[in-house]
Amino acid sequence: FEDDQGFFAKYYPYYLSGTGYTILLAIIGVVFGIILGTLFALMKLSSIKIFKVLASIYIEYVRGTPLLVQIFIVYFGTGILGLDLSRFVAGCIALSLNSAAYVAEIIRAGINGVNKGQMEAARSLGMKHTEAMRYIIFPQAIKNILPALGNEFVTVIKESSVISVIGVSELIFQAGNVQGASFKPFLPYLIVSLIYFVLTFTLSRVLGVAERRMKASD
Ligand code: ARG
Repeated sequence: FEDDQGFFAKYYPYYLSGTGYTILLAIIGVVFGIILGTLFALMKLSSIKIFKVLASIYIEYVRGTPLLVQIFIVYFGTGILGLDLSRFVAGCIALSLNSAAYVAEIIRAGINGVNKGQMEAARSLGMKHTEAMRYIIFPQAIKNILPALGNEFVTVIKESSVISVIGVSELIFQAGNVQGASFKPFLPYLIVSLIYFVLTFTLSRVLGVAERRMKASD
């Protein structure tokens, strides 16, 4: 037990910096994921065929391949193109590009989930398509979209762990460092799992409260 106390005193800086990187990766991933994902969703919903097709290909491809290989493609692919991205930036780009595909589907599903009669009613009142979208469809869709985006944030926190493969010193990478330094195989990962749990559990609780407030304001 005494030994374990020494363990925490000795290795907590690894966990602190790993947690920092994990949170940073997740925030950057989800923010750019939402920006890009909105773009892809708009493309997919647009009436211009080529946009629709390109967005579909992107979304299907990204959702149909492992994040692991996407990280390698971004990291080594940008190297081949002569871009010397840092591992951290490559990780952020891969995570954002991955999340964008999932966000696009969240937004598309949210908009398509609004009853068709809403659009018909708005149009029959003389609204233009874009007006109906903006004042009738979107305010209803956002109530489906926001909670799902919250879940996406939780997912991205966990998925950021895969970025450890290119040597970004987030939580999993740091657990490996602690493992190597302490010769303890198990404890470092147990601790890291608890840190992830605290992050995701806290976040989903906060999001749950926000969601209930939103419902109450209906
Ligand atoms: N782990 C799976 C993969 O490697 C799912 C990724 C989910 N990503 C997301 N942003 N929701 O493909």
